[in-house]
Amino acid sequence: MKQVVTALLLFAGMCLLAFPGTVLGQGPAEIDLKERFQVEGKKKAVIFPHRKHQGALSCASCHQDPQGGGALVVEFVKLTGTGNDFHKKFCWPCHVEMKVPRGKSCSTCH
Ligand code: HEC
Ligand code: HEC
Ligand code: HEC
Repeated sequence: MKQVVTALLLFAGMCLLAFPGTVLGQGPAEIDLKERFQVEGKKKAVIFPHRKHQGALSCASCHQDPQGGGALVVEFVKLTGTGNDFHKKFCWPCHVEMKVPRGKSCSTCH
């Protein structure tokens, strides 16, 4: 039994090294960021349209790894209030830069 488990783990590891994109996939189509980052507050949860962003941008726009997945380019430390790091360091700057219509309107995201 132990050998089977070891062999399976080895195989999974090799797949990961060879085809990270295939094994990890593209990630979820949508992500509830309030739940994911355990944000507390009264605003309606942001359901992030991940797939839509993948269609418009390269993975490296947001992920440290150019293949996507894993750590993001921003670490979220301040999670409360309108001065939170999602607004100030991640979502808003890019929406402004790329001129996303209503990119800073509360109802676009919340
Ligand atoms: C581009 C997307 C985006 C827009 C536009 C946006 N927010 Fe947010 N906001 C987020 C994300 C992401 C979080 C963190 C995750 C969550 O709370 O679901 C957040 C969190 C918050 C929080 C802290 C959490 C809480 O529930 O108290 C407040 C307050 C907030 N937003 C208010 C606003 C207000 C007011 C506006 C309009 C001026 C606005 N947001 C516009 C994405 C956005
Ligand atoms: C506009 C920003 C953005 C882009 C572009 C983007 N992602 Fe993501 N991605 C996120 C956010 C935000 C999360 C949720 C945060 C988390 O889970 O750490 C996430 C989560 C993921 C996850 C699940 C979490 C994990 O670490 O396994 C995978 C897999 C993933 N992304 C893959 C990709 C791939 C592949 C691409 C390019 C095809 C891509 N992403 C492009 C923002 C983005
Ligand atoms: C690196 C750039 C970038 C970042 C970071 C980014 N966005 Fe966007 N976002 C875009 C672009 C570009 C579009 C327009 C995509 C399109 O219309 O195809 C968009 C569109 C959207 C839309 C509208 C989708 C629709 O159905 O029209 C929402 C909602 C949104 N973003 C939420 C967020 C939230 C929440 C965050 C932060 C967690 C975020 N975005 C971070 C570039 C970004």
